[in-house]
Amino acid sequence: MSMKAKMIIDKDFTVGKVDDRLYGSFIEHLGRAVYGGIYEPGHPEADEQGFRGDVLELVKALQVPIVRYPGGNFVSGYNWEDGIGPVEQRKKRLDLAWRTIEPNLIGLNEFMDWCRKANTEAMMAVNLGTRGPDEARDIMEYSNIKGGTYWSDLRISHGYREPHNIKTWCLGNEMDGPWQTGSKTAHEYGRVACETAKVMKWVDPSIELVACGSSSLTMATFPDWEATVLEHTYDHVDYISLHQYYGNRDKNSANFLAQSMGMDRFINTVISTADYVQAKKRGKKKINLSFDEWNVWYHSNEADSRIEPWSIAPPQLEDIYNHEDALLVGCMLISMLKRADRVKMACLAQLVNVIAPIMTANGGAAWKQTIYYPYLHASVFGRGTVLVPLVTSPKYDTKDYTDVPYLESVAVHNEEKSEVTVFAVNRHLEESLLLELDLRSFGAIQLIEHIVMAHDDLKASNTLEVPDRVKPHHGGSAKVTSNGSIEAQLGKASWNVIRVKLV
Ligand code: AHR
Repeated sequence: MSMKAKMIIDKDFTVGKVDDRLYGSFIEHLGRAVYGGIYEPGHPEADEQGFRGDVLELVKALQVPIVRYPGGNFVSGYNWEDGIGPVEQRKKRLDLAWRTIEPNLIGLNEFMDWCRKANTEAMMAVNLGTRGPDEARDIMEYSNIKGGTYWSDLRISHGYREPHNIKTWCLGNEMDGPWQTGSKTAHEYGRVACETAKVMKWVDPSIELVACGSSSLTMATFPDWEATVLEHTYDHVDYISLHQYYGNRDKNSANFLAQSMGMDRFINTVISTADYVQAKKRGKKKINLSFDEWNVWYHSNEADSRIEPWSIAPPQLEDIYNHEDALLVGCMLISMLKRADRVKMACLAQLVNVIAPIMTANGGAAWKQTIYYPYLHASVFGRGTVLVPLVTSPKYDTKDYTDVPYLESVAVHNEEKSEVTVFAVNRHLEESLLLELDLRSFGAIQLIEHIVMAHDDLKASNTLEVPDRVKPHHGGSAKVTSNGSIEAQLGKASWNVIRVKLV
């Protein structure tokens, strides 16, 4: 007899509409994300600009709506002007964040070209580490003003007649982190972010701005940082950022998979803090959340400590992901969907080679890591309205968490397509879970498919040599029962996507 869990969903009990930008990602000038990742002139798959076509195809399949750029830690020492104009005149610079050499072969214009080819938008970050409002107003003018001014005419002279019209901008990156070039106290950052936001919106009032929240929920200053920063910036920004990475350093998979509960708490705390500031300001505006860095990150830490400094595009942060990582990524996606009413943007960090769902070999093939799949499924099938998940599940305790439900799940109703998709992880490492899914108010239903990702070895991963070791199949056991609900066996340690047609 397998363990049982139940989920009830009702079309009238909604969390909120999913903002498509919840399925964003991130490309930083770091390691082989840009050079050897999206860009590799001379590669057999490279196009006329040097962008790898095989990588573009994998990105397009993910339907990534927005990509954060150019950093990350990199942006806090970056002069964006180094990346514009004739490539042969661009300067090579030391990148202090990652101790590499930045050749500046790709900059703002080329990245925007890549975004067009990848059917995505840019979420651009300005440098508030070593720079400030002056630089930010210039890049705004260069990017978004049609012409007739110094910076906009310079863009036209660089071959870009039309403005890029970049709508989403980050005010710096992780400014609370001592590792950041030009890190700041909450008051220092709050002031410069406020003044920068003002001038950026004066240049283009249609943009949306993200203020930096804490670099992770373990920062000593969390959540006072959020409160102080928002008190300075409330009138001028639209989002506060969250960043969080997890790892299984102590080889405790049950505890590892429970960590999305920490993410739930993190999200709820930031929402409370943003609402506290709104109340204090007697404000009308809600500050929403941009979870613009999230993933598993720990496999590559040791290898990175051995990389010699000051080379171009070394293999940094090249985590090879395994099956359990994909399960936690699935749980993290579910966490964000459960608060889709407030988490409006998110970026899986990152997209190619650097802690990424897509890997490449220089001069060779590109392949999908395990984490590619839950991200793909959520992005493709998770658009619509999130329904309140009423879940009853057996639970377990771990070193860091109590009452962890074996079943982690959420449902999204796509009204246009008349479909409901349930995303579900069975965290149990030994046993399957019999799920009863009660769709009470939806009327007649048909099962479209039950996609399953499972593997006997939690540590199994995909590599250049064996790129398909871990991948989903479409033969899950879900079926419509005689009383109109759905029953499905969720295998041990599995990621499940149950797609239902409303008829
Ligand atoms: O994504 C890798 C790094 O993680 C980013 O550069 C930084 O913002 C974070 O610490």
